[in-house]
Amino acid sequence: MKGIILAGGTGTRLYPLTFALSKQLLPVYDKPMIYYPLSTLMLGGVRDFLVISTPTDLPLFQKALGDGAELGLRISYAEQPQAAGIADAFRVGAEFVGSDSVSLVLGDNIFHSPELPDVLARSMKDVDGCVLFGHSVADPRPYGVVEKAPDGRVIGIEEKPSKPRSSEIATGLYIYSNDVVEIAHSITPSARGELEITDVNRVYLQQGRARLHSFGAETTWLDAGTYDGLLDATHFVREQQRSGGRIACLEEIALRRGYIDAGSCYSLGKKHKNSGYGQYVMEIASDTRWGRLTYVAQ
Ligand code: DAU
Repeated sequence: MKGIILAGGTGTRLYPLTFALSKQLLPVYDKPMIYYPLSTLMLGGVRDFLVISTPTDLPLFQKALGDGAELGLRISYAEQPQAAGIADAFRVGAEFVGSDSVSLVLGDNIFHSPELPDVLARSMKDVDGCVLFGHSVADPRPYGVVEKAPDGRVIGIEEKPSKPRSSEIATGLYIYSNDVVEIAHSITPSARGELEITDVNRVYLQQGRARLHSFGAETTWLDAGTYDGLLDATHFVREQQRSGGRIACLEEIALRRGYIDAGSCYSLGKKHKNSGYGQYVMEIASDTRWGRLTYVAQ
């Protein structure tokens, strides 16, 4: 299973914050925004990533994340010259996807849920078609709105409807079988000139191959792409971390999943020892309980 993180776009909803810096590199409390979607796919077991962004911003992502080797990952990069739509990720990333199945996460989507590792691992196994992840929101109009049958099959999907038929929206997390590349090449741009992910998903729906996992109340989903969304995300992370843990700590996930050993983890933390983040990484690496932990993310 490959993983694409879409981190381009114009960020106009956050101007002037994004005049000089890409939205997905803005801070969400103690780390750059992109750490969160990257950690989401890591929790599902993905190790091979493609980060897609604008030609101007791509070098900054490379600086922030490197090639992933230190975390036991592979991170490669590709340019999206124009914001041609979310589904364009599968045209830009066609070579990267190769003959594999692929997951896609939007670079401004933040997920936090105890069920995430299990749900993702299950959904990524033997995927045939697409798996969407739904969340109920008070105002679904700015999103892709989904309707599902009791068996989990998607029976309706509409992008930014003025009269939503349900309160459940498709979050920016998607899992596809390999034919998504072909489907992304077959659709045409919408009225706003973009290759819509909703149009890709509708093809699967028409084939009866679109499934929806509805996240429950224990799952937090945040779209950090607006002023309020960004502030809510920052507050949420700060609150969650008050008890001492860390959300989206890449080194911790890599350690827990066995991609790196405690010694390498400690060295990674030591590089940033002046920050609370670096100190946390050092602490979890040297935690003597570590060897006795039974929990290993699947
Ligand atoms: O957040 C979930 C929603 O994301 C879904 O419910 C919608 O169905 C889906 O279309 C999308 O809606 P948005 O209006 O939030 O999409 P937006 O155009 O803002 O793009 C989302 C992210 O993807 C944003 O961080 C920028 C990035 N992006 C977007 C486009 C269109 C790219 O990197 N390249 C692009 O060409």
